[in-house]
Amino acid sequence: MMTFISLDEAIGFLHNKKAIVFPTETVYGLGADATSDIAIAEIYRLKNRPSFNPLIVHFYSIEQAQLYVEFSDLALKLSTLFWPGPLTLILPLKSDSPISKLASAGLQTLGVRIPNHPIALELLKKINLPLAAPSANVSGKISPTKAAHVHASFGDNAPNILEGGTSVVGLESTILDLSGPTPTLLRPGFVSFETLKEYMPNLSIGCSTDKIDAPLIAPGQLKSHYAPNHKIRLNATEIKDNEVLLAFGPHPLATKGYIYNLSEKGDLVEAASHFFEALHILDALESTGIAVMPIPNEGLGRAINDRLSRAAAI
Ligand code: TXA
Ligand code: MG
Repeated sequence: MMTFISLDEAIGFLHNKKAIVFPTETVYGLGADATSDIAIAEIYRLKNRPSFNPLIVHFYSIEQAQLYVEFSDLALKLSTLFWPGPLTLILPLKSDSPISKLASAGLQTLGVRIPNHPIALELLKKINLPLAAPSANVSGKISPTKAAHVHASFGDNAPNILEGGTSVVGLESTILDLSGPTPTLLRPGFVSFETLKEYMPNLSIGCSTDKIDAPLIAPGQLKSHYAPNHKIRLNATEIKDNEVLLAFGPHPLATKGYIYNLSEKGDLVEAASHFFEALHILDALESTGIAVMPIPNEGLGRAINDRLSRAAAI
């Protein structure tokens, strides 16, 4: 059973240090008061998430975020350009910041963003507290772009949901680390590497986040993530017996099984917005596995391929 709540009920739960699910333009988030250890512990418990993994904290304005983290000139420029929107900046925490150490996993930095969703913004503004929110799924499972996906992940233990339609971007935010000497892209997303590079010619791509023993630089980027129950076979050029197909572009491979085409016209933005929905649907079918057609590794295609390689690594 799913329990939907109103905005005012959501605020009541949050004040009582409870976690609730709220919509954003990227994916649904499991949100709680970022200044409360008890509230953040509730997120980790519900997600069954390793506690070394820091959370992204959400704000409604740059001024509000400036109370908690330090903005360089570059950070201010990028946040003005891309917020509200699907870009998370890793910035130095202010020394007296009241953010829970559980939320930042004890790091001196914090991932921050302003989500571009009217309900999320209304919630953030009305409660006037920073909300930590990872994607609203059990750790390692497929991210939710609809309320029904939240239920699919948590089952009857699903937390209370503030409904807000389908997430239009459909992939988690781009993560850009501005806390070190050179800007580093830690997670590809809707705001692409190419776009960011126009503002930062020295932009580099984060140390491979796939290594489970990598330093704590991007601890959430474990190699196996978004794991569906079925086997994923990448770059498929043919269909094997009883596989279902995740297709891309105008010419899906011939198959007798089920096809979900991310974008018949080969549009990467459309493909990203359908990606997690497609995994949820295909994974629920009976099959011997999910064959995935190649997706061009450019722009948003990088972000899709990043999620695909994690979904395939089990
Ligand atoms: O689109 C999104 O970003 C969604 C919505 C709900 O806003 N949230 C999301 O959060 O994807 P989550 O917790 O699933 O992903 C957070 C990622 C993790 O991979 C974590 O390692 C990284 O951000 N991260 C957070 N704080 C960090 C920090 N201080 N340094 C390095 N990486 C950090
Ligand atoms: Mg996640």
